[in-house]
Amino acid sequence: MQICRSVSDIRRVVAGLRAGGGRIALVPTMGALHAGHMQLVAEAQGAYDRVIATIFVNPTQFGNPADLERYPRTEARDIAMLDMAGVDAVFIPTVAEIYPAGDETIVETTHLAGVFHGAVRPGHFRGVATVVTKLFNIVGPDGAFFGEKDYQQLAVIRRMVRDLHMPLRIHGVATVREPDGLAMSSRNVRLAPEDRAAAAVLNRALDAAEARAAQGAPAETLAETLAEVVRATIATEPRARLRAVDVVDADFAPAHGPVTGRIGIMVSAEFGEVLLIDQREIGK
Ligand code: PAF
Repeated sequence: MQICRSVSDIRRVVAGLRAGGGRIALVPTMGALHAGHMQLVAEAQGAYDRVIATIFVNPTQFGNPADLERYPRTEARDIAMLDMAGVDAVFIPTVAEIYPAGDETIVETTHLAGVFHGAVRPGHFRGVATVVTKLFNIVGPDGAFFGEKDYQQLAVIRRMVRDLHMPLRIHGVATVREPDGLAMSSRNVRLAPEDRAAAAVLNRALDAAEARAAQGAPAETLAETLAEVVRATIATEPRARLRAVDVVDADFAPAHGPVTGRIGIMVSAEFGEVLLIDQREIGK
C-alpha cells in the first residue's frame, strides 16, 4: 500500500492506478478505524478496481477545539489495518496541505447544513462539505463510500454532488453495530465504561420506534409518535442527555402530516462529554 502525504504524491499514485484502466473508489475517514470503516473498504473493493482511503482529522468540522484535541489518533494502527485489507493507497495530509495559507473557499449546502443535527453543531456540515470537496478534487474518484450512521452527512454530500455536478457516485453503507446494538464510532473509545453501557439506549430507542411504526400509527401523526417513542426510551437511561430527535422524509424535510414512503429517524445524545448519533431508515 502506498502512503502519500502531499497532494502531488497522491495525484501521481492515482495517475499510475488509472493508467491500468481501473475504476477508483475513495473511502474518506478521520482515522481511528474500526469495523465500520473496514466495511466501507470491503464494499468499495467489491464495486471498484482500486480503493484509496484518506485519513485526515478535519479541523473545520469541529465546533469545539477541545473536541478536536481529544479526537483519537491511531495512525500506525490505521495504516496496518488498511494495508492488511488490501487498500491500494492511503492519503494522510497535514492540515496545511489541505488548507494552504490564505485558504478562504468554503462549500455549503445552505439549507441542509443548518437544520437537524446542523442546528446543534453550527458550521459542522460546512466543514464536512468543504473537506470532502477538496478530497474529491485531489483524488478524482469514480465513487466514494460513506456510512449511513452519519445520515445527515450522507444527505449533505449527496446534495452537494448533485448541485455541483460532481462526476462521481456516492454510496451509503449500512451501519455496523457492536453486539449490544451500539453503532460503531471512533468516539466510542472515549466513553467511560458506564457511559459505554448506557449508550446502547440509542439503538433500543430506534428499535422501539421501528416496532411502533410496524404497529401502524395513524399517518397524520406518525412522525411525532415515533419521535416521542425515541424521547421516552432515551429518558429511561439517566446517563443519556438527549440533544435532538428528528424525523425526516425522503427529501430530508421534516416529516409532517401524512407520512408515506421512506422516513429517517435521527437521534443524538451526550454520554459524559461524548456526543453520539444514530439513525434508522424505515419504509425503505
Ligand atoms: O465521516 C467522517 O469520518 C468525516 O466526516 C469525513 C467524511 C471523513 C470528512 O472529514
